Amino acid sequence: MVKDKPLPIVVLISGSGSNLQTIIDRIADKTLNAEICAVISNKANAFGIERAKQANIPTEVIEHTQYNSRENFDAELTRCIEKYQPELIVLAGFMRILSDDFVNHFYGKMINIHPSLLPKYRGLHTHKRALEAGDHEHGLSIHYVSAKLDGGPVILQKKVPVLKNDTENSLAERVLAQEHIAYPQVIQWFSQARLQLIDDQVILNK
Ligand code: GRF
Repeated sequence: MVKDKPLPIVVLISGSGSNLQTIIDRIADKTLNAEICAVISNKANAFGIERAKQANIPTEVIEHTQYNSRENFDAELTRCIEKYQPELIVLAGFMRILSDDFVNHFYGKMINIHPSLLPKYRGLHTHKRALEAGDHEHGLSIHYVSAKLDGGPVILQKKVPVLKNDTENSLAERVLAQEHIAYPQVIQWFSQARLQLIDDQVILNK
């Protein structure tokens, strides 16, 4: 049987990279048919860089502090991404706001994972905000990246119950465990060419 070609992806991170790790693991156990061409970080000390090196994946660090404008940083990031010719750009805890030009350039080919049930709680401190609001359910969203922060078309959401004694940490941990299942799943849908984006509507084909 001829296997389909692995989907070439580039993963952008800023920190721990636990989502990156699950993508690496699902590729290794062959439940995700993808190839990570490079991991790019805007922080030299991101632990995700170590994870990538352990897995023999090329790494690149582009420190935003070295650039005098968002546009210059984004131009370098674009150049770096395009060097690897990915079919999908995966933001996995990448903590930079990207310029409209950058986002529009890659529209339809770039996804993000966000720890809330969008459109609720765009931006930071989502677990704290869900707890403070007294929500009974919280969760995660995986979405196409558009010029509106955390506002692009949603591909998949997973709900997580908020428990009586939850703290920010316990809730974050439970959401993260679901992120680790959901993100490789969505990337596999890209690999199988099951997703279409028509007029900003997401269609998942069988
Ligand atoms: C995750 O909670 C993700 O939803 C958010 O940033 C966090 C990244 O965690 N965008 P990690 O670096 O993958 O461990």
